[in-house]
Amino acid sequence: MYSQKISTLIIFFAILSCVDVKQSEEKKPSKFQEKYRPQYHFTPPSGWMNDPNGMVYYEGEYHLFYQHNPDSTVWGPMHWGHAVSSDLVHWEHLPIALKPDSLGTIFSGSAVLDQKNTSGLGSEKNPPLVAIYTYHNAKMEKTGSNKFQTQGIAFSTDKGRNWQKYKGNPVLENPGIKDFRDPKVSWHEPSKKWIMALAVKDKISFYSSPNLLDWTFESDFGKNKGAHGGVWECPDLFPLKINGQEMWVLLVSINPGGPNGGSATQYFIGDFDGKTFTTQQEETLWLDYGTDNYAGVTWSNVEDNRVFMGWMSNWDYANIVPTENWRSAMTIARKLSLGEIDGKKRLISKPLQNYQNQLAAKTLNWEIEGQNAFLIRQVNEWTEIDFKKDIDENQSIEIELFNENEESLKLELDLAKEEIVLDRSLIENHSFSEKFKSVQSAPANFKKQNLKIVIYKDASSIEIFINDGEWVMTALYFTEKDLNKMKITSNKSFTAEIKNSNFKSIW
Ligand code: FRU
Repeated sequence: MYSQKISTLIIFFAILSCVDVKQSEEKKPSKFQEKYRPQYHFTPPSGWMNDPNGMVYYEGEYHLFYQHNPDSTVWGPMHWGHAVSSDLVHWEHLPIALKPDSLGTIFSGSAVLDQKNTSGLGSEKNPPLVAIYTYHNAKMEKTGSNKFQTQGIAFSTDKGRNWQKYKGNPVLENPGIKDFRDPKVSWHEPSKKWIMALAVKDKISFYSSPNLLDWTFESDFGKNKGAHGGVWECPDLFPLKINGQEMWVLLVSINPGGPNGGSATQYFIGDFDGKTFTTQQEETLWLDYGTDNYAGVTWSNVEDNRVFMGWMSNWDYANIVPTENWRSAMTIARKLSLGEIDGKKRLISKPLQNYQNQLAAKTLNWEIEGQNAFLIRQVNEWTEIDFKKDIDENQSIEIELFNENEESLKLELDLAKEEIVLDRSLIENHSFSEKFKSVQSAPANFKKQNLKIVIYKDASSIEIFINDGEWVMTALYFTEKDLNKMKITSNKSFTAEIKNSNFKSIW
């Protein structure tokens, strides 16, 4: 433990020796050392990745499947890549689980444990894991038909190691609608049925089934609700309690039409009776205001712990970000809950506690006060900044992460404007896309007495959690050198306690 005080208006530079936190280089497989390769976020060994799929917990393992093109670093014929984890932090890569077949390539979907063997695809003694996914038939699409997306299932009776496609596929035919995909299935105990939330154009259709094989249309949701700037994709529907009351949350990804351009995930808080989702919500609400958290959903079969993971990219530039050998990472796993901000119900996202075990042994503690505080140090992958005294209602605070190349990422919290701004435009490496050079913002009416910022930074991403997950911003960035220095400035004086450490590599 180390403690340092920086007094008012004195600019204090402290250069700390690099804490020995990195895993010894030779132990890592070389492909996990590429430039920009995240060290504690999930990435595929090689090739292209987009949405997380089929997230299900079973017998001590969290399964993560993902949209995968193994033969290229750009989007193409979709497979389901596969990995498992016991803690959602460390991952073991497994062989590809689902490959394209004559019905099409394998788009996004979900997986469930069919505990009672309702499908008959396993036995009650050995219940099957069932994956429900979208077939995308590109050949049929070329013929001009609109029926090229259908829903299929596959099952495994050996802990997800081998998957067999169901002979009666597709289990849900297309009624003639171009965008008809991304089934998220869960068991609805009150009606004793499986419920499928399906993205259909810019709405969500709900279907029900007694056995995962036969599906009946129940209702549509979305007309005159939420954002409609693009197609709706990758829904998720689940209950969460607030003050003892059960409410239902519907996640809906949308592309384009996000609050800061391109892809983003909106959510609705309401009620679900087994047939229809209803909400009184007037505003459009976003799960994450950053540009790079898309298509995220939650794990099934862990209903008491709603854990979310998203794809850390944006369709505006996902195919052309400057990585080699592999493309895209997932966000860190986040625990979702319902809370109230200013008397209004909101979805709260907190980093999973398990990441704390992955921090390097040394955590540095600082207390700073003043208007300008420069902290120059080599350890900053995890930073918690707790503003100890009341923040003034006209205060603005700027946190800058920078390096000796003058590359910098700025986070500004403006209490008067009730706004958070994340500016990555000062990082030179955005030439691959005009859309990447963005200044992102989020409306935020902070609690003025209690401002806490937690930053998770990896080789090419930043995830910012404000006031224990009331506001979240996730963004990619590509710098020549690590942003290993931090500076905090404000128009008024402040006192803050800072905790700071690095992550050990998970690879
Ligand atoms: C979302 C998405 C899904 C689709 C998948 C295809 O990012 O467009 O709607 O199933 O990606 O890879």
